[in-house]
Amino acid sequence: MSETEAETDETDTHEQADTEPEPSDDAVVPVGVKLGSTRTVIVYPSPDGEDTETVRTLTCLATYEDVLTGEERILYGEEAATEYPDTVEFMLRSGLPEDEESAESAATFFTELLKSNDVPENSAVVYAIPTIDNEAGLANLESVVEGSHIGTELVRSYPESLCGALPAFEDGLGAINDIFVTINMGSTNLEVCAYRRGEQLVPLSTGSITGNEVDRRVANYVEEETQGRVNIDLTTAREYKEEHADFEAFEPFTDVIQQPGGGSHEFTIEHSVMDACDEYVDEVVDEVANSFLPELANSYMKVYQLALDQPIVVTGGMACLPGIAAEIERRLTDELQRDVEIVRADRPDLAAAEGAHEIANHLADGL
Ligand SMILES: Nc1ncnc2c1ncn2[C@@H]1O[C@H](COP(=O)(O)OP(=O)(O)OP(=O)(O)O)[C@@H](O)[C@H]1O
Ligand SMILES: [Mg+2]
Repeated sequence: MSETEAETDETDTHEQADTEPEPSDDAVVPVGVKLGSTRTVIVYPSPDGEDTETVRTLTCLATYEDVLTGEERILYGEEAATEYPDTVEFMLRSGLPEDEESAESAATFFTELLKSNDVPENSAVVYAIPTIDNEAGLANLESVVEGSHIGTELVRSYPESLCGALPAFEDGLGAINDIFVTINMGSTNLEVCAYRRGEQLVPLSTGSITGNEVDRRVANYVEEETQGRVNIDLTTAREYKEEHADFEAFEPFTDVIQQPGGGSHEFTIEHSVMDACDEYVDEVVDEVANSFLPELANSYMKVYQLALDQPIVVTGGMACLPGIAAEIERRLTDELQRDVEIVRADRPDLAAAEGAHEIANHLADGL
């Protein structure tokens, strides 16, 4: 899959390495990183260089005191979220490390994550960044990646929606020289943008159409649907959405809560999850059809035409919902009264890190 394969095993000889002036010199390893507000994803070559490893974890941190030594210990990811729901910190909750404190937490999180996964230090790192007008936040994110042990050879950032679009195209990195529209559907932001050979045209970013907002609605609708008997927190709402939302084959599901006075209450959810997701798709389509595309047409008529002749790429975690691409395609086609095609990568939640890895692979080649 990758054009160059990383050499990490010193006994392994490689055709390419033989022709290099320093055959035993460690090849630069391409690493793709996406530090997201909900999840972080890292893609890097497997030790044999044949394939890639993918790390996917919740972007959160908890600390506890080691009862034997009295030392402070750090937990991250799913373990931290499940075991310490009371103190766990999602330091990128708003999308970027906003202040020094969250930048420091993010650095600690990233360091721990790299340590427990043996991500190679002699690497060319490409990390995905949100399209947000927040210089301080972006500088903090940069310091987190630049300050880490990896990326000794190179560290570069590219827009998350560009990285996330590449794996949706057959020619992968080749698409970077094309014209296309991307819709990046994340937890804290919806980003819509046209790319012209990698250049962003009329990027739009809104914090009001988000995966987090869907979770809030799911929680509210569950309360309504159960006549106030069931209150779920936002983590549970997110899990309901991620596990059950399905535009093709949604099935009502049951869950059980413990009653405060003892006993348990079983309930069935029929509408809450899909109502929230349905509204989300409507809002995405409305934003694309009635804000973004008119703006693109206004500023770059020809590019607009070219872009709509190409498939539009949906990416980000919310693009994982089964059937959502076809649903957006149907509603957008209706709204625009012209055919549009929507495509997505196999794993839109991993796509930004995968695309970043592809770019890193290319850049490492030139080192
Ligand atoms: N199968 C899934 N896997 C991962 N995330 C999913 C899935 N289904 C839905 N989601 C949702 O996608 C959102 C996360 O998307 P993504 O990882 O792209 O966000 P992010 O880049 O961290 O956020 P942002 O860029 O908005 O700050 C969350 O709302 C999450 O619940
Ligand atoms: Mg994102």
